[in-house]
Order: sequence, then structure tokens, then C-alpha cells
Amino acid sequence: MRTSFSALALRVTLGTLLCASASCVPSNAQTGDDAWLRNARLDPATVNSYASLPTNVFVLGETPVLRTAEQELTTGIEKILGRTLTVRSWMLGSRKIRRASYILATVDELQRVEPKLRLPQRMIRDGYWLVRRKIRGSDCVVITAANDRGVLYGVFALLGKIARGESVSALNDVEQPYAPVRWVNQWDNLDGRIERGYGGASIFFADGKVRDDLTRAGQYARLLASIGINGCTVNNVNAAPGVLADSFIAQLRRIADVFRPWGVQLAMSVDLGSPKTLGGLDTFDPLDPRVAQWWRNRVDEIYRQIPDFGGFVVKADSEGRLGPSTYGRTHADAANVLARALKPHGGVVFYRAFVYNHHLDWRDLKNDRAKAAYDNFHPLDGAFEDNAIIQIKNGPIDFQVREPVSPLFAGLHRTNEAIELQITQEYTGQQKHLCFLVPMWKEVLDFDMRVDRNFTPVRDLVSGRVFHRPVGGFAGVANVGLDANWLGSPLAMANLYGFGRLAWNPNLSAETIIDEWTRLTFGGDPLVVRTINALQLSSWHVYENYTGPLGAGTLTNITGNHYDPGPESSEENGWGQWHRADHQGIGMDRTIATGTGYIGQYPPEVQKLYEPLAACPDNLLLFFHHVPYTYVLHSGKTVVQHVYDSHYEGAEQAAGFITQWKKLEGHVDDASYRDILARFEYQATQAAVWRDAICSWIYRMSGIPDQKGRVGTPSR
Ligand code: GCU
Repeated sequence: MRTSFSALALRVTLGTLLCASASCVPSNAQTGDDAWLRNARLDPATVNSYASLPTNVFVLGETPVLRTAEQELTTGIEKILGRTLTVRSWMLGSRKIRRASYILATVDELQRVEPKLRLPQRMIRDGYWLVRRKIRGSDCVVITAANDRGVLYGVFALLGKIARGESVSALNDVEQPYAPVRWVNQWDNLDGRIERGYGGASIFFADGKVRDDLTRAGQYARLLASIGINGCTVNNVNAAPGVLADSFIAQLRRIADVFRPWGVQLAMSVDLGSPKTLGGLDTFDPLDPRVAQWWRNRVDEIYRQIPDFGGFVVKADSEGRLGPSTYGRTHADAANVLARALKPHGGVVFYRAFVYNHHLDWRDLKNDRAKAAYDNFHPLDGAFEDNAIIQIKNGPIDFQVREPVSPLFAGLHRTNEAIELQITQEYTGQQKHLCFLVPMWKEVLDFDMRVDRNFTPVRDLVSGRVFHRPVGGFAGVANVGLDANWLGSPLAMANLYGFGRLAWNPNLSAETIIDEWTRLTFGGDPLVVRTINALQLSSWHVYENYTGPLGAGTLTNITGNHYDPGPESSEENGWGQWHRADHQGIGMDRTIATGTGYIGQYPPEVQKLYEPLAACPDNLLLFFHHVPYTYVLHSGKTVVQHVYDSHYEGAEQAAGFITQWKKLEGHVDDASYRDILARFEYQATQAAVWRDAICSWIYRMSGIPDQKGRVGTPSR
């Protein structure tokens, strides 16, 4: 397409601009390795307001994570308040606290020396309690938790409050995680490239090996710990079998060693064909006892080298990966052979529900990729081991700018599940466009599935609360890289921050999350906070406006870069990201009555929301229904006029980002100002490319001109 060439040219221009600005980022800029953990010095008046905070630190216990907690606290207080803390280890009975102190301890340790201490509630793993109270007569700030990782999380929470200038004088906060599993996945290849990564090369691998210098891996673990992430899969879901070789496990151990002080468990993606391709067996049939033994041996070896190993992520029978179908076995057979090997060690297996046939016959209007996850996994409900978790993408297709929630969340009652969200912006502008995804994730997590006609939001299903599952939670595909700002764009870091905060507490609002992030990253100047929050909060809708309308999919080039406009690429191939646009109408008929029947996978009350054309929300209309271009939406506009209007509006809004950002000249450091300005200027030109491409396409398809005369020939 012609638009692709201009898009390419624009990307080159952006690349040149950004390289120029990146090379002169000063060390105090609001970007870089520290991201939201800059711990910038507060102004003197605010520093004074913390004058009553202690100057001593007592750490009860001697674990690597507690040591990290103590160091993070002392360096954080030093940087934010300019105050040096004195660290004292507290040997039981050997010394009394005589001065105001921070006390860092697990609940067990604390109660050994302060038996009268009563907890406000039962602390669960990783949860923490921050409280100011007198201990042995001294005014203390107590940071306590069920485990040492919780203490570290408490330290980050306290520092975050102080860095944002919030009062801590009446501190008494209990924070408990919503779900036990809060992991990120990295899609890093062993050669150092990252699949769908837009922030530079891998921080873990280069040239087929684990990198010698793992400094960035340690810094990443710090960032992850600060938002409560407790596991990280380091290699691509399209996994190389070689990761399970003895020599490679020894290398992975080095990554685990740099993760450990931050309480981040290392995990890896594995290829189901490994017993054959790596192990030399003549089969990888999950029901063959030799295969089961092979997996047990591998897992035992991993735990010998990495005692706190987290577990496996598996992509099988999907996009060309080997899987149990080779032997006529089920996904439960495949997941369970791994789960049983991991169980004695306390590990888990995430088995991905992203299983579909990418050679579907596009001529058959009853075919539907969206049905695949439910069709594959719902019949197996209850057949999975207790330490197997089905990892389900938020929508039934693939991280499009708008999709309904996957019906599979409601379809597993006796199986653990986790939601997979994509932090890296594969289909949402690849970090070159601002697209803050937390509002989208909130809609998904808040969506009420009406399981058994009860209030069952997705957040409660994935965290295991609805069906009392032993484990469940959140997996975010992060794909950070070696670039100074990790994701390739400073503002995109709000997505990583937001993922962690939602995994910790999905009840937080998008507004709260972005406000925290902006203050930590850019400081508390009200104009800066107001402007950046507004930009971020509007950005998903703006991106949706100038890309894929009404649930039709992102309309990007799906057989190529997933970035440029390319609506034609969706059709006439087996990938199944169809929008079925022809000269009469547009949209996939997924109704029970006349379409693919996909809507039938939802609980009855949700079906009622989508099946009747008149009830279906505008923003998902084309996902569920095929309609003529002249169909009138709830908004009163026809479909085609909506496409024209939303694209002009979106491009205008993107141009408006420049004006909004310009207000911040002199309010943020100069390097960040210029860097981000260049990004917005680029985004505005790209939004116009998208607008023109989609508007001329829809005009070509429909033959109906724009009522406002901007597209096509006005009718006579
Ligand atoms: C998308 C993405 C692939 C990835 C796949 C997955 O299709 O484009 O690169 O491998 O998702 O989630 O497995």
C-alpha cells in the first residue's frame, strides 16, 4: 500500500530525531533506568514535613530480600529527603530501641520480640502492614509482612508515598495482593532479539547465551518488585528447546541470582517437543512414561540449580508450535505432565489458551478464530492439575485495540486461570504512539461475566476468588529491552507500572494509577501532573479513533508489521482476523441465530447484551454483527459516517497532543521535553496517515461519500 511507504519514511524520521535526543539525556532527566523509582529530592518545605520520621533502621532477620529492603529504604530516604539513616541489626534481647526507628521484619520475627503486637487482619503472602506505633517506648515506623518479600513491597510503598509528598504521620495501611500470581513474560529470543519488543535488544540474552553483564536484569527486577510483580519468564513463548539443556540451565541460574534479592522468581517458556528434539527420545507424547520421566529429570535439575524457580509457560499447538495433537492427546495431558514434574518443588505451569488454527478456510462464514480458546479448553475444565494455570489473553483474538473479553474466563470453573495482558504495544502503536492501556484493561477486569447470574467480574474469576481456586492471577507481556527507558518510550512506561498496580489491586482506578506514575516519574508540578494524566487517559480512545472502529479489529497490517494501516490484509487468508468488509457491509456475524455462534460461548445474560443487534454496544458492533454501511448506530450516525468522523476526530486529537505537551516547556527537563515532543509530532503525522488510509478504504468499499465532504466525491 502507498501509505506503508510514507509510514516507513516517517518512522525513519522519528528514529533519527529520537537518536539525536537520546544521546543527550542528562542523568537527572525524567527518563532512564530508574523509571518511576527516581526518588527525586523533594523541595525543602516538603522535606521538613517529614522531620518526625525516624533516623534508625532495625532489620530483624538476615535474608537477601530483607537486605534489599533495608538498602532500598536507606538509599531512598537519602535521595528523597537527604537524610542518612543508621542501620542497626536487632539481635533479640541484646539491644533495646531507644530512638525512633524504622522496623523491617516479618510478622513472625516481630511478634517474637513484641508479643503484644496484634495484626489488624490476617496477612497473606506478599501483603504488608505499614504502621506508626510505639515499640518499647519509641516512635517507630513498622513495615511488616507475612514474608520477606512483603516487607520489601512495604518499603517501596512507603517510599512511593514520601516521593509523592503524601502524609505518613498517621500511617496505618494494610495492603494485600488480589492474586498470588503476578508475573511478566518476556518474549526474548536467545540471539538477543525480542519478538514484538520495541525497546531494544534483550537484557538477558545475546548470541545464543545469557549475557555476561546482567546489570539491567537486576535493575528490571527492582522495577518489578516495586510494583509487586513476583515472577518473570525470561524467554519467548515460541521457545527454543535448548533452554532446557544442562549448560543453559546453569546460565539461567545467573539470572535467577540477580532476581532473587528482589523476590522475583525466574520462570521459563518451554517447547513441548523438547523430549524429542533435545532429549533424543523418539517421542514427546505426554502420556508416554519415558516422556514424563524426561520432564521430571529436567525439572529436578532446574530446581537443583535454581531452588526458587517459578515454573513454565507453554505455547502448544499454536502458530506452528508442536503440541499434544501430534499424538491425539489433550491440552490437559500436556499441561499435566509438566505440572506433575513441577509439583513436588512448588512450581506452576502456565498453559496458554492462545491455541487456534491459522489455516482456517476464510470462505466458510461459519469459521471463527474467536471461538478457538473456548472450544479447546472448556471441554477440559476440571482435567488440569492444581498447579496448572490456563493463561488466557484478554480478548478472543489477539490484543486488538478493542475486543470483547474472552468467554473462556467464564468457562472454567474447576481449573485455575490467569489473564494475559500485553504491555508491549504490538497492535497499539508499538510505543511510537501514546496508548495508555490501563483504561482498556480496567474495562476487561471490571466486566461482569454473570456466571450463574451472579456478579462475577473478570478480576474475580482470574484471581481464583469466584471458584475458590488455589492459584491464579495476572501475566503481562512486557518485552522491555536494553534501551535507556526500557520500553523505547518514556511515556509507555506507564503501561508497565499500571500492569503491576492492577495485578496487585484491580480495583484501583486508571486515574489513581496514572496520577501515581506521573508524580513518581515527573514530580508534583500541578501543570505537569494535570497535563500528562490527561494525555495518558485519553490516549487509548484517540488511538482507537484513528485506527480500528466499532470493534472491527485494529485494521493494521496483520500479515506484516502489525503497525501500519492495512485493512485488506485481514481478509482472504487463514489467520482469522476477519472483518468481512465487502461492498454491501462490514463486520463479523458472530450471532447464535445466523452467524458463527461465538456469542453462545458467553453466559446467557452476556449473550443478551451482544446477540440482539439493537442491544449491542456501538464500540463492539462490528465484532459481533455484519451490517450495511448505512446501519444507524446508537449514536445516531451511520456506520460509514462514524468511520469518517472518528478518524478525523482521532487525527485531530493526536495533533492536539502536541499543543498540550507544549504547555510543559520549562516544566519538565529539557531533554525529556524535546524527546516527547518529537514523539507527539511523529504520532500526529502517523494519525493522519491512518485517517486517510482507513477513510479512503471505507469509501472504496462502500461507495458512500463523507457527508462533510472530506472523503470521496460529494453526491450530487
Ligand atoms: C501474536 C504475536 C506473536 C506471538 C503470539 C503469541 O500472534 O504476533 O508474535 O507469538 O501472539 O501470543 O503467542
